[in-house]
Amino acid sequence: MSKDIFSEFNLNGHVLRNRLGVAPMTRMSSVADSIPRPDVLDFLVRRAENGAALVFTEAIVTDYESAQGYPGQARLLTQRQIDAWKPVTAAIRHHGAVSVLQMFHCGRMAWPEINPAGRSIAPSALTPRQDNPLTGKPYPVPDTISLFDIDHVINGFVETARGAMAAGFDGVEIHGAHGYLISQFLSTYANQRMDGYGGSLENRFRLAHDIIAAVRPVVPRERLLTFRISNWGVADPDVSLFETREEWQSLMKLLAAEPLDAISVSTYDFKAPGFGTDQTIAALTRAVTDLPLMICGKIHDRPTAQAALEHADIVLAAKSFLLNPNFVSDVREGRELPLHRSTEADVAYTEAPLI
Ligand code: PHB
Repeated sequence: MSKDIFSEFNLNGHVLRNRLGVAPMTRMSSVADSIPRPDVLDFLVRRAENGAALVFTEAIVTDYESAQGYPGQARLLTQRQIDAWKPVTAAIRHHGAVSVLQMFHCGRMAWPEINPAGRSIAPSALTPRQDNPLTGKPYPVPDTISLFDIDHVINGFVETARGAMAAGFDGVEIHGAHGYLISQFLSTYANQRMDGYGGSLENRFRLAHDIIAAVRPVVPRERLLTFRISNWGVADPDVSLFETREEWQSLMKLLAAEPLDAISVSTYDFKAPGFGTDQTIAALTRAVTDLPLMICGKIHDRPTAQAALEHADIVLAAKSFLLNPNFVSDVREGRELPLHRSTEADVAYTEAPLI
């Protein structure tokens, strides 16, 4: 029997008032200064005001070198950027929700023209199989990451986490999903290295481990450090990043041994069985770890939210929160709610202020 979607959940001392969270979503709205447009920030506050228990920011780019994958992404590295987020975190807290900043490096999915270093870097000099959906062109061949680059990448995560703490976030999330840099290292599909960062699962996990180890000391124990993982990539959605149930569960055990407060598993469909088994990815994950678990993927109304809690603690929704400011109250009332198509989310990339 699942816990109720409107029951509280204690996430490392942060009492969530229900189990519904706003998934991280990008807007590409920052112009010159890597600060999102005011309406984009207001959108997050409004979701807290309207009952979400947990609010993730869009994915914040971790450095000024080669981390950026899309135009208009935000950073949290300068005092001006910190000052822009401070009222947002204060307002989210005022409205009774918990704020978490998500941070990422795009690796081979970066866009050299919009990065100060004018290049992309990845575990190996291999491109995704699919073209960049924004340019319609192939991704450029990335430079193989050197050990010097790795230190620089780790430092970007650390500095961004410091920025998040200074801006008043309750936590930070390391984005290890969707085929971006950390995910590229984890997968044999993108990582063909012969050094200590390639080969065995433990080696492919090394970058994730190094980043967690470097970030945790700047995120005090009473704040949250979470890690997002998926078995699919944005550029190559049909490619399974991990091979078998055993590989997935071994990876979850490696994550569970880290000083994390939760794992967030991103799926296309929370109901879909994983790795040729008859179990969902959430169930396969829960079987090997008791760490608090967040799940997303086609959760759009009360029955789906309730069902998704069977093997998870928190459910995240993206399009439903993006397109419906009253999503939480609509779920509470058990309204019939649509499962939105991905193209409907394109409003997020327009000039139109979000509702
Ligand atoms: C993603 O996690 O899939 C993602 C992150 C940032 C973007 C776009 C997509 O700008």
